[in-house]
Amino acid sequence: MTNFRVFLITLFFVLLTITNFIPKKLEAATTRAFFVFGDSLVDIGNNNYLATTARADSPPYGIDYPTHRPTGRFSNGVNLPDLMSQYMGFSEPTLPYLSPELTGQRLLLGANFASAGIGILNDTGVQFVRILRMFQQFSMFEQYKQRLSVEVGADEANRIVDEALVLITLGGNDFVNNYFLTPVSARSRQFTVPQFCTYVISEYRNILTRLVELGARRVIVTGVGPLGCLPSQLATRSINGECVDELQQASQIFNPLLIEMTKDLNTKLGYDVFIVANAYQMNMNFINDPQNFGFVTSKVACCGQGRFNGVGLCTPLSSLCPNRDVYAFWDSFHPTQRALGFIVEAIFNGTSDLMSPMNLSTIMAMDNNI
Ligand SMILES: *[C@@H]1O[C@H](CO)[C@@H](O)[C@H](O)[C@H]1NC(C)=O
Ligand SMILES: *[C@@H]1O[C@H](CO)[C@@H](O)[C@H](O)[C@H]1NC(C)=O
Ligand SMILES: *[C@@H]1O[C@H](CO)[C@@H](O)[C@H](O)[C@H]1NC(C)=O
Repeated sequence: MTNFRVFLITLFFVLLTITNFIPKKLEAATTRAFFVFGDSLVDIGNNNYLATTARADSPPYGIDYPTHRPTGRFSNGVNLPDLMSQYMGFSEPTLPYLSPELTGQRLLLGANFASAGIGILNDTGVQFVRILRMFQQFSMFEQYKQRLSVEVGADEANRIVDEALVLITLGGNDFVNNYFLTPVSARSRQFTVPQFCTYVISEYRNILTRLVELGARRVIVTGVGPLGCLPSQLATRSINGECVDELQQASQIFNPLLIEMTKDLNTKLGYDVFIVANAYQMNMNFINDPQNFGFVTSKVACCGQGRFNGVGLCTPLSSLCPNRDVYAFWDSFHPTQRALGFIVEAIFNGTSDLMSPMNLSTIMAMDNNI
């Protein structure tokens, strides 16, 4: 062979290696899967497929969604997982696991298993009848992994789950739709608030441990928000619109226990699997100073009826505010899309008092360098 032919052949292989290498790297960077577990704060439509009263599939839900139609999200527009997908640069939002569209290559993007009304405890949300409790969300996740294996092979499926980002949002309903649902509840007869928090955290620890067994390696866990400031609680328990002490205290007992519990798990696992988002403080920032965030109120819900527009459900007959962007709360329990934007900003770029032990930008930078 002449030197020139050797050169051409070498060049060919060099180019082959480079062209092979670059698309793979890019592909890997843009296809990190996203898995979501939890309640109505992160449900993007699973309950549409269930016989439950916990649903957001009629107007005016979705009024500010790109299609202006209800989607099952408890928001005027998109919700937390959508915004996270967007900022992570994913080409498409993750689909609800029960959606018939979640097939084929779309499985590679992850899946959302969340179901409105559920809690850490199985007895939370019994009034909503058929909803997907955590053990059911996890068995669907196992089913998902099998379907993914069929699609891409077992090794690739394991890699996808291994490198994925997970979001889990639980706990609020164990208080507002269980312990504090009625003036006296079975759980409030059984436990004081601090005892209940300790019990719920011990069950949450089991759930998070199971999540790691199922393959999760990077998990954002949101603490509970300022439950006493929800319009639903202002409507029923607040005399003058002050956030309700008893529920605020419950959040303030629960959240430090959550941080302590996840720190302990991280220590045992040998690295920071669990990252806690301080949802309490993230919400309090705009609740304490709504005007500074461009809201006219943080007490009155946009869609509802009665005191603080916080009584009952948001339905086509409810009173509806004309401009959702100037309200912190969309309905009696859930923030508006715009308020969620401030929360997502804090999840990505917040200081260590908001994201423990570090924010999502830092995590993404670390994970991309592995
Ligand atoms: C919830 O129910 C499932 C299935 O019956 C069970 O495996 C799980 O331990 C229960 N969890 C709690 C917290 O009671
Ligand atoms: C985080 O900060 C970066 C850099 O300032 C910015 O580009 C990005 O949009 C921020 N992320 C969010 C979710 O606000
Ligand atoms: C969080 O994110 C921003 C960049 O997006 C970074 O500058 C900051 O140092 C990060 N960490 C903490 C603890 O604030």
